[in-house]
Amino acid sequence: MASDRQIWRLARRPVGSVTEGDLVLRTEPIPDLAEGQFLLQVIYLSLDPTNRIWMSDMEQYMPPVAIGEPMRGLVAGRVVRSRKAGVAEGEIFSGFGLWADHLVTGGQNFSRMDLPPGVPLSVAFGVFGLVGPTAYFGLLDIGQPKAGETLVVSAAAGGVGQVVGQLGKIKGCRVIGIAGGPEKCRFIVDELGFDAAIDYRREDVGARLDALAPEGVDINFEQVGGPVMEAVMGRMRLFGRVALCGLISGYNDTQAQTVPAPWTRLLMRRLTVRGFIVTDFADRWGEAVSALGGWMAEGRIRTRQDVRPGLERAVAHLDSLYTGGNFGKLLVEVSPDAPRT
Ligand SMILES: NC(=O)c1ccc[n+]([C@@H]2O[C@H](COP(=O)([O-])OP(=O)(O)OC[C@H]3O[C@@H](n4cnc5c(N)ncnc54)[C@H](OP(=O)(O)O)[C@@H]3O)[C@@H](O)[C@H]2O)c1
Repeated sequence: MASDRQIWRLARRPVGSVTEGDLVLRTEPIPDLAEGQFLLQVIYLSLDPTNRIWMSDMEQYMPPVAIGEPMRGLVAGRVVRSRKAGVAEGEIFSGFGLWADHLVTGGQNFSRMDLPPGVPLSVAFGVFGLVGPTAYFGLLDIGQPKAGETLVVSAAAGGVGQVVGQLGKIKGCRVIGIAGGPEKCRFIVDELGFDAAIDYRREDVGARLDALAPEGVDINFEQVGGPVMEAVMGRMRLFGRVALCGLISGYNDTQAQTVPAPWTRLLMRRLTVRGFIVTDFADRWGEAVSALGGWMAEGRIRTRQDVRPGLERAVAHLDSLYTGGNFGKLLVEVSPDAPRT
């Protein structure tokens, strides 16, 4: 069994896009196991837009990663040694871990993954690890979709967006997705069943919304911010809902943000906006996994994962989230996802 591990540590706070020198990859001894701990060999590391937030010292919902500390990340891995009662070698766990190929944990913030037969770990972890519950609670609890309403979702071909749009269809909404490039736009309409797509890189988002939704927008599932958000917010209907899930266009900002124009509309149109972090719904995680799993088994929700090899390329892979280079939920395969017995 390996005695050393590869682990990324935060060397300095990035300015703008994350660059290689902001994090350093180290080879370090695997810590000894204390009683009550187990050793996880990481199979998948989830790369998420919020990783950039954790590297910064902006106001956020968890403590930022301290300089010199290992980079935090969601992982799924196999138990290779255990000194914890009830945890056996070979079991699969997922949770808040590190950008590393091995990690030692007492199991706090981890849960056992019981995979339905035939469901690959990349899909189960890719969907149920974070983005599926984010879509589920954000749309259903905060968006409150009703049949016949118009739902707009930005970053629509990404991890969260693809599930939001399909959930919207299940709830009888008319779904318009906003994504970058013709391939992503074709994917959400032709393969996922969205009603329409707007390519924000090539089209005038406002003009296309006016044509597609002349009555306006009932639900904005907001993931992007900036000009895309302004175009949608300017077209909200009375008593609309905004599920404020993310603002990725600003995550690499180097300057203070100005007050965005749509906030006046929040007042005048009496819109409901609720920012949320998916961990607010931690006690209802099982509900989301079971509902999404059911719809996936029926073929009503399909998802696409973008799995890349190599922990050592994690920083470069992460950058693709902010350039649109990923197509589907972005995962790093840290060690081989061997067939399970
Ligand atoms: N609140 C929560 O608890 C929670 C949980 C998970 C995720 N989130 C948020 O949800 C959003 C999506 O996350 P994800 O994990 O599903 O990532 P993702 O959508 O798979 O990847 C990010 C996508 O954002 C789009 N994007 C990047 N920069 C953009 C810009 N300047 N303008 C417009 N689009 C841009 C790109 O797609 P295009 O090619 O289409 O541009 C990129 O592929 C993020 O804002 C994230 O922070 C929130």
